Amino acid sequence: MPAYAVIGAQWGDEGKGKIIDFLAENAAIVARYSGGNNAGHTVVNEGGTFKLHLVPSGICWPHTMNVIGNGVVVDPDVLIKEINENNLVPNRLSVSDRAHLIMPYHVVIDQLEEQRRGDAALGTTGRGVGPAYVDKVSRQGIRVGELLDAEDLNLRLTKIVGFKNELITKIYGGDPVDLDNIFEQTRKWASELAPYIKPVENLVAAAIDKKENVIVEGAQGALLDLDHGTYPFVTSSNPTVGGTLTGLGMGPNSYGGVAGVFKAYCTRVGAGPFPTEIHGEQGNRIREMAGEFGVTTGRARRIGWFDGVAAKYSARVNGFDGMIITRLDTLDGWDEIKICVAYEIDGVRTDQFPVDSVMLDRAKPIYESVTGWTESTRSITRPNQINQGAKAYLNKLEKVVGIPVKIVSTGPHRKETLVLEDLMS
Ligand code: IMP
Repeated sequence: MPAYAVIGAQWGDEGKGKIIDFLAENAAIVARYSGGNNAGHTVVNEGGTFKLHLVPSGICWPHTMNVIGNGVVVDPDVLIKEINENNLVPNRLSVSDRAHLIMPYHVVIDQLEEQRRGDAALGTTGRGVGPAYVDKVSRQGIRVGELLDAEDLNLRLTKIVGFKNELITKIYGGDPVDLDNIFEQTRKWASELAPYIKPVENLVAAAIDKKENVIVEGAQGALLDLDHGTYPFVTSSNPTVGGTLTGLGMGPNSYGGVAGVFKAYCTRVGAGPFPTEIHGEQGNRIREMAGEFGVTTGRARRIGWFDGVAAKYSARVNGFDGMIITRLDTLDGWDEIKICVAYEIDGVRTDQFPVDSVMLDRAKPIYESVTGWTESTRSITRPNQINQGAKAYLNKLEKVVGIPVKIVSTGPHRKETLVLEDLMS
């Protein structure tokens, strides 16, 4: 089973990093395909706690090559910091020469755009991700491989920075960025990153040809997808399965399967519709218990009950063959746990997820409840340790979403994982 995609199925922060680290034991390659350092993946294992934004979550296994694909946008300072902090070397990490760079002016523009939106701000992470993808699409982007040709890059940068400064100063009223300074930074990036820059798509293709396991690591989540998410409250890339193909240059027949990572409840960071959002005391209880604060920005995450309508939609647009449920232990000790099974929109019941955010904002969740459980699910690793209440909850999720639960995460540590069905057999 060569390639297996592990994709965020909600609004990001589902715990993909922990799961990828667990699965990477059997992987030759872990490859990221989209997003940038707007992501925050936490990995906890015998080696310690790792908070990763850009490098893939397979870095803790010495036999695993970690690949940053062409679909990712790369902030070189963040990449260099993560390389140094994690003692990575070029035979453990490669970055595609075709991946686009997040330049200093992208970060400035991201923040100025958010300010300009005022009350209508999207709540971006402010890391320059959106503006970098805008430049990619408008063919003004700079690719990682271009760092290696100083002369050509200087010519391009002179034109691009001139234009960006007009935008920054005349439209947004901000302070211009300094061309010489940026050019100097690109020299430092080039000298530090050169050994890591490769046509990584060839590495992925070779591993697939050799029938080695490749884990394709999602960032963000399906409901933040530029095309399939709650537009305009989305990120600027395609975290859904389609993004894996363009973001790594691979074909669909490389895949052995696609799993969706779902939290046992929902969270969302930033603005946008969130039908099952829990306000007040109950939401605070989950947030505090589970430490639901962003790894990248530290922002408090919004909390909601499991949204079965959104989950079914996510399973459809990604073709999930299994669910990975994380943070089940956060629900230990509740009297009653709610699952949204349908919405009421303008007086009409529906189990279809509306593509229109304005309509989704009017959706009232219709819940079914399961009785909670008092026994702890924390750290359990064997099926016979799941109590009846938790089992009933997992069964209910399977019924609502229509796909089996294959793995359950019962704590942040790699070891706190319960495998119900082998993903990559
Ligand atoms: P951007 O990706 O920084 O442009 O932010 C766009 C939206 O996606 C905002 O609502 C962010 O909070 C959200 N977002 C981006 N990355 C993540 C993530 O890794 N987890 C959760 N939300 C994210």
